[in-house]
Amino acid sequence: MKLWGGRFTKPTNELVDEYTASISFDQKLAQYDIQGSLAHVEMLAACEIIPAEDAETIKKGLISVAAKIEAGEAELTEANEDIHMNVEKLLIDEVGAVGGKLHTGRSRNDQVALDMRLYLRDSLVTLVELLSNLQGALLTQAKANLDTILPGYTHLQRAQPVLFAHHMMAYVSMFERDVERLCDSFKRVNRSPLGAGALAGTTFPIDRHYVADKLNFDGVVENSLDAVSDRDFVVEFLSNASLTIMHLSRLSEELVQWSSAEFKFVELDDAFCTGSSMMPQKKNPDVAELVRGKTGRVYGNLIGMLTTLKGLPIAYNKDMQEDKEGMFDTMETLKGALALFAPMIETMEVKKDNMYAAVAEDFSNATDLADYLVNKDLPFREAHAVVGQVVLHCIQENIYLLDLSMDDFKGFSSLIDEDIYDVLSPEAVVNARDVVGGTAKNRVQEQITQADQRLETS
Ligand code: ARG
Repeated sequence: MKLWGGRFTKPTNELVDEYTASISFDQKLAQYDIQGSLAHVEMLAACEIIPAEDAETIKKGLISVAAKIEAGEAELTEANEDIHMNVEKLLIDEVGAVGGKLHTGRSRNDQVALDMRLYLRDSLVTLVELLSNLQGALLTQAKANLDTILPGYTHLQRAQPVLFAHHMMAYVSMFERDVERLCDSFKRVNRSPLGAGALAGTTFPIDRHYVADKLNFDGVVENSLDAVSDRDFVVEFLSNASLTIMHLSRLSEELVQWSSAEFKFVELDDAFCTGSSMMPQKKNPDVAELVRGKTGRVYGNLIGMLTTLKGLPIAYNKDMQEDKEGMFDTMETLKGALALFAPMIETMEVKKDNMYAAVAEDFSNATDLADYLVNKDLPFREAHAVVGQVVLHCIQENIYLLDLSMDDFKGFSSLIDEDIYDVLSPEAVVNARDVVGGTAKNRVQEQITQADQRLETS
């Protein structure tokens, strides 16, 4: 007999049981479901809705059910549909009919919203920790590479040299905003929907704030219809997760490029790469590729959830059971990616000489020659044209700016003097960008110091 079987005259079709059940995936919520029930039953006793000794019996029963589920000793069945009814059934098996008092003044609709919030609340804390670890790894690489110069690119064409530390710190900044977004979303997650009942509240004199306090929520989701029917906190998480994995995916793409024979800028540690079943020489950056690939699935979960919610009338609709798998999948995917990225970045070998060679064999100091002429009072547009001519000449001669003699330079502009050779060296070019947030060594050091302080105090 189903917990809700009273008004039915026939058993449920087996395919319906199978199709509508969520137990295969929502058992992930078991511990949160029981945590919520413990708070609820305590409140029922405190408000004198059920006798204190019944509440005690139910609490003991719930704790024993929790232990059995944890140990894999409890039988969770599709016939009992979801984690909420499975737990209630196990409780009644454990303590008898008194277990049936647990669901007084409560619906699965407010219960499932509560479980989702409890799960997300815990998981957000873990995500922030993982993001901080990754920031720590990027900072370690930044500190070790304050003198490492590589070409900075636009359009994937060499543009202007930058410090590798500066490049690492760009990602530290992106992940900092990701942390901020998760922390900000926490306050909207951290509200209790319990007490909303099925949709309209309950006739029992419950104390919603008692339960909220017990469960360490900041307060309640006030409107009962809103409390059971919105999943904007799930969408917000999926959206924040999408931004984070987008950042990871861009970093992945750079690692894939940098570890190719064409770039040879980094070598990922063997422990974070895989080989080929056929080609003995291969060492593939699979982790980075897979994170880049999984980004599609994470975006898909966001669009899926938004689309599920889009046409739903208030309040609960069974469609909303579709809120879970995408959320769990995104959470696992993101946690997995972050847990791997921190040690992969930390152990990555940075090939400073190859980076430097790429800077030397290129025209990424051309802007500095133009700026030099501007400092000699030539209008920038004219300086740009002169340097364009110089670059063209060098390309034809198969040489670079620093290969030009003083006479060559004078041939293009009499404003150029001996000091040009100092101005055009990679170190000088980098250090000339001495503005807030620029790539000059002292400015990058500033960013590192600030990031260190933020990470320490968080
Ligand atoms: N398994 C359901 C879900 O995840 C729980 C809520 C069901 N409520 C209902 N009235 N059928 O959404």
